[in-house]
Amino acid sequence: MSTEESTQPYRQYATEMNAITPLAAQDHDAALEIYRDAVETVAPAQYSPAQVKAWSQQARSGSGITPLRNSLRRGWGLVSRSVDGKAEAFALLDPEDHVALLYCRGRACREGRGGALLRALEEEGRRRGIPRLRTEASLISEPLFRSQGWQVSWQEELLINGVLFRRFRMAKPLNQAQGALILS
Ligand SMILES: CC(C)(COP(=O)(O)OP(=O)(O)OC[C@H]1O[C@@H](n2cnc3c(N)ncnc32)[C@H](O)[C@@H]1OP(=O)(O)O)[C@@H](O)C(=O)NCCC(=O)NCCS
Repeated sequence: MSTEESTQPYRQYATEMNAITPLAAQDHDAALEIYRDAVETVAPAQYSPAQVKAWSQQARSGSGITPLRNSLRRGWGLVSRSVDGKAEAFALLDPEDHVALLYCRGRACREGRGGALLRALEEEGRRRGIPRLRTEASLISEPLFRSQGWQVSWQEELLINGVLFRRFRMAKPLNQAQGALILS
């Protein structure tokens, strides 16, 4: 790993087609737009219209958007960009042991951006000495987390804007180097 990669480990997960940059204050509006786009274009295959509306409402203007804006300000995140620099996906740690947000525009899904961002957050967690990351995964993201070695601890039900959702509490220990071999 180069010196830059050891201080900015997310760099090793970037490619020409998928530049990864830190999430800065000027990216917050784009992140909210990605959130709305992801929910409105990807979620309808697995969620009801009422669920899609309630979920995307969290990123719509009005007082309902405040928790999301506060999380973006508090947390540490990364943005995946296309060749022309446009933000296509983002991920956020808030607090630092918790993957709070992972969203990709529908048009850019299944290009490996979500997985690359997740691995980059895990690497950042290792750099910070965090023993274990946790999240609450959606029906859509649960297979992606699982494919990266995350495990479901339990399923929970909650109300978002008065509509019932089921999600998966998941966690992954970070206490070994990525790809390390355990030899007996
Ligand atoms: C989850 C999400 C961030 C994945 O982003 P991505 O850039 O497509 O991720 P990758 O390309 O690295 O991984 C693809 C995997 O994500 C899941 N996925 C991506 N797009 C999907 C879609 N349209 N429908 C169902 N699953 C999808 C699948 O598990 C897929 O693996 P597969 O192609 O082998 O089936 C993106 O689908 C999204 O924003 N979803 C809506 C919001 C959401 O559920 N966020 C998670 C909240 S915790």
